[in-house]
Amino acid sequence: MTRAFADLFGVEPDGTWSAPGRVNLVGEYTDYNEGFVLPTALPLAARATAARRTDGVIKVASAQGERAEPVEARIADLRPGAAGGWSSYVLGVAWALADAGHTVAGADLYIDSDVPIGAGLSSSAALECATALALAELSEIDLDRTALARLAQRAENEFVGVPCGVLDQMASLLCVPGHALLLDTRSLEMRQVPFDLESAGLALLVVDTRVGHDLGNSGYTDRRRACERAASVLGVAALRDVGPDDLREALGRLADPELVRRVRHVVTEDARVLDAARLLDEGRVADIGPILNAAHASIRDDFESSCAELDAAVEAAIGAGALGARMIGGGFGGSAIALVGADATASIALAVEARFTAAGWRAPLCFVAAPVCR
Ligand code: GLA
Repeated sequence: MTRAFADLFGVEPDGTWSAPGRVNLVGEYTDYNEGFVLPTALPLAARATAARRTDGVIKVASAQGERAEPVEARIADLRPGAAGGWSSYVLGVAWALADAGHTVAGADLYIDSDVPIGAGLSSSAALECATALALAELSEIDLDRTALARLAQRAENEFVGVPCGVLDQMASLLCVPGHALLLDTRSLEMRQVPFDLESAGLALLVVDTRVGHDLGNSGYTDRRRACERAASVLGVAALRDVGPDDLREALGRLADPELVRRVRHVVTEDARVLDAARLLDEGRVADIGPILNAAHASIRDDFESSCAELDAAVEAAIGAGALGARMIGGGFGGSAIALVGADATASIALAVEARFTAAGWRAPLCFVAAPVCR
């Protein structure tokens, strides 16, 4: 990275900043309903190797990109929607920092990432967060990681134009090794919950179905709008305000059966997050398996944002002995996770692959999410 940077920009970098992708153990579609999530970081990360500039210009190149020449922009001229492609995630962070009133000094950035793109593993958030760490330090902007996560989310919402919640950016900047992050997305109160797979003799298998997942797709936005409509019918600020004990009565007030299903998912999912966190607090890692299964069924049947490949991956993993499995992320493609015995990762991955082959689908990419370092 350092050599490539020097070749490209003709100066030595000041440093490299990195931020990981994530898997969310449970708590899907709860963030934009101001509820709870429980992500953990992946051992895959985006890295921004960068040098400070003093002219207010940002230049960014990517090790993955096809174009050799850096994308270049004057920070003061950045406007939402003006840039496209991968560089908009980087430029968007510079815009969000500047728009929040911070003086961004300008920078040369060289980006590399091993988080698979479009796999529902937060490649975009990893890119935004690595950029945010680099730009903040180079410009001596004193913001904590929560504030940087907020700005990275704003970059994605307003500059890139994707209506995501704050789950991915908070996970990327605040998850720590050996733990899952119990986050209240309304107050941003958080707590590290022990998630020690190794001592439990377990592993987390990630199955990237390689079915393209794009948060800009209409399914993600439609679901979000449906949740907002339901909250408005129910007279609450967000679906987070419907507790499990109010669920039956709330559903009775919704005339639209689609809204009934969406609300049932969100309210039961929030409860599953808190149940899973309690089990992890008690060191009962294996016992979250049934919660993962229930979360998947709820997403498949009530939120209707799974797809045939994700359902098949989950079924095949459970059929081959996984303790629990579910799709993760924005939906309609991307990845699933399976909680498996540490000695069963290979056999369960093979069972999932065989299921894909039998269906005539492209082979999935299976990997074990090893403990992460920051
Ligand atoms: C994507 C979004 C998140 C969240 C999840 C679904 O990952 O970026 O904000 O909404 O989907 O839980």
